Amino acid sequence: MQAQAGVIPRVRRQPRQPTHTLAGMTLMDRPGRLDSFGTTIFAEMSALAVRTGSVNLGQGFPDTDGPADLLEAARQAIADGRGNQYPPGPGIPELRKAIAEHQARHYGLSYDPDTEVLVTVGATEATAAAILGLTEPGERVVTFEPYYDSYAASIALAGAGRRVVTLRPDGDRWTFDPAELRAAIDKTTRLILLNSPHNPTGTVFTAAELGLIAELAIEHDLLVVTDEVYEHLIFDGVHIPLATLPGMRERTVSISSAGKTFSVTGWKVGWVCAPPRLLGAVRAVKQYLTFVASGPFQYAVAHGLGYGPDYYRRIADDLKSRRDLFVDGLRELGLSVQRPQATYFATVDVGGDAEAWCRALPERAGVVAIPSRVFYDADIDRYARFAFCKQPDVLADALVRLSRLGKLTE
Ligand SMILES: Cc1ncc(COP(=O)(O)O)c(C=O)c1O
Repeated sequence: MQAQAGVIPRVRRQPRQPTHTLAGMTLMDRPGRLDSFGTTIFAEMSALAVRTGSVNLGQGFPDTDGPADLLEAARQAIADGRGNQYPPGPGIPELRKAIAEHQARHYGLSYDPDTEVLVTVGATEATAAAILGLTEPGERVVTFEPYYDSYAASIALAGAGRRVVTLRPDGDRWTFDPAELRAAIDKTTRLILLNSPHNPTGTVFTAAELGLIAELAIEHDLLVVTDEVYEHLIFDGVHIPLATLPGMRERTVSISSAGKTFSVTGWKVGWVCAPPRLLGAVRAVKQYLTFVASGPFQYAVAHGLGYGPDYYRRIADDLKSRRDLFVDGLRELGLSVQRPQATYFATVDVGGDAEAWCRALPERAGVVAIPSRVFYDADIDRYARFAFCKQPDVLADALVRLSRLGKLTE
């Protein structure tokens, strides 16, 4: 083709030529590690909520923002030019120090802010970086189902395998069969991934359950990654960080974040506490995933972590009253629901086909919930997850809407 003066000739893309084959497949058809992970159910259900004008109790984020002085601290950091440019890779020193002080004050755990604390882009990046940094392809991660959805994707990204141990209802909490946990561990197991307080069941793992996990980790020389983002949103029970158990600090990567504790889920400030060798492996991954993020918000979170016990008591009490309002309301409507010990979530047992139930709910009642099936490897489809971290009048509205369900099901 003759190029005209001043006109840049359009470059035609050549169809890509396959260069390698894998078991008879072209490179382009080759299966990818995340092929089985489509768009998350949260995006789908939130779109459905908007389309149907429903009350969205699907995704777990509060509908009020964190304390005014915390928000002001972020605005002030921006105005002062603190954090507007790349902050230090491991996180600003003020925040690392505040995280270390928080661990010491609340749990008696001592971490060196310079070598044992890392700031991440939320707990999500922290867990992904921990799994990527601490497992090799072919090794296995043992975790509990139902599980937070990013776990399976992070394990797949690492080329590792997952073995899940199923949590089952036991009164108002959920627990696992110790024999199943023992059986899930073999010589390919590298780490146990634990989430307590647990999303979606709202269960706080007991000292006995944690003791067994610790015992097995020590016996099989495993690492444990613990996701503790709901550490301060507990109504019944006590949060025991696994790292506080004898022999566990040296093999535990503890993760948390500011999102839930300070009602700022959009800020995405998370952190990791671990001994230097483990922290180094997580940091090595984190630096090439995002390097740094959330500069000014890091200053604000450092401020928030300094709040006294009153703050933490208030947020738990406040959320507890919403839990009771919502759970009592659901029970009055005849729904089978547990009273969760912690977190933002209540699980309703609809008896079966919960996915269809949740998909129909917006049209039938004008409320959105998430089918817990998406949190399982096992074929378990009887639970629906509702988020109650919403204003009391929003929850009351959702209950009125759900009361129509009875009539519609007649
Ligand atoms: C168990 C669990 N871990 C991690 C996260 C995400 O935390 P972050 O927003 O800090 O990445 C959530 C959010 O819902 C969660 O429920």
